[in-house]
Amino acid sequence: MQADLDRIVDDALAAFAAAADAPRLEQEKARFTGKSGTLTAMLKSLGSLEPDARREAGAAINLAKARIEEALQARREAIANAALEARLAQETVDVTLPGRGRARGTLHPVMRTLHRVEAIFRSIGFDVADGPEIETDWHNFTALNNPENHPARSMQDTFYVEGEDSAGLPLLLRTHTSPMQVRYARSHTPPIRVIAPGRTYRVDSDATHSPMFHQVEGLWIDEHISFAHLKGVYTDFLRRFFETDELQVRFRPSFFPFTEPSAEVDMAFTRGPLKGRWLEISGAGQVHPTVIRNFGLDPERWIGFAFGSGLERLTMLRYGVGDLRQFFENDLRFLQQFRD
Ligand code: FA5
Ligand code: MG
Repeated sequence: MQADLDRIVDDALAAFAAAADAPRLEQEKARFTGKSGTLTAMLKSLGSLEPDARREAGAAINLAKARIEEALQARREAIANAALEARLAQETVDVTLPGRGRARGTLHPVMRTLHRVEAIFRSIGFDVADGPEIETDWHNFTALNNPENHPARSMQDTFYVEGEDSAGLPLLLRTHTSPMQVRYARSHTPPIRVIAPGRTYRVDSDATHSPMFHQVEGLWIDEHISFAHLKGVYTDFLRRFFETDELQVRFRPSFFPFTEPSAEVDMAFTRGPLKGRWLEISGAGQVHPTVIRNFGLDPERWIGFAFGSGLERLTMLRYGVGDLRQFFENDLRFLQQFRD
């Protein structure tokens, strides 16, 4: 009997030691202490013994069972520890890898330009105004001395939207920020000094033209504001914007129905990688008397200048970007270069 028990215990210990994983170990356990295990069978046979012999055999079986259970528990822990060790070894942390920080956004380069322009004009006493991108025909064209069917309207190929204004004319996406001259002047009393930056839209698309782009309008109306003031203010603005005096500004004669005389403003650097390349950045001129009248003001008394600059163009020159479409492609490799 004791010999049988010893053999069962030895078998169990050997089987547990050979079990490589937890499921295998539990299977082996069943062979000895399970319902039809060898040790269980011996316990069942106790009933046929005399009381004294039964007590003795019972004690011996219980002892064997305790040894088996102790070995089983030890092997369970060993298998669990080995599994943990293996996992730890596999999931090593490479502390030399960069951390998974939260990606930080940056301001779009055109917005940087917008903020710079605002700061510069605020510093010389200009107000900053905002206005609607969906405009009426009257504000975008007619009030700016550009009546219906006038050939000058073809200078700006326009996106029309559904709906019409009180005159029954179609609403449109503003083709420039100039309607803000009218809106601002009609709701403020002179002297007027304002810039109005914002989005504008035209049926245009090439390396220097985008269907959606940004302009900033400038307007200064008082009793004595001349073209010379325009040249001084605008040239000074460019020097401050580009943080250099090494640039040339050219007021090239042009035509806009809402200014007289009118000019396109071109600029070129006299130094640096972009040296000598002229780019048109603005339209400008003395506000036309008809437009002053549409402001609700007397053109015999009030006079001044206006300009409208392309913010993408200013940004291209400041950062040396060759194709303005890059601003709107949302390529992070491009956009992330603009941090200062
Ligand atoms: C105008 O839009 C006039 N409203 C400007 C003006 C204002 C003149 C006040 C006189 C008085 P123009 O179409 O030239 O003018 O546009 C002005 C500037 O906007 C251009 O010099 C250019 O820098 C920019 N621009 C025009 N079209 C586009 C476009 N499709 N994509 C990017 N920039 C553009
Ligand atoms: Mg132009």
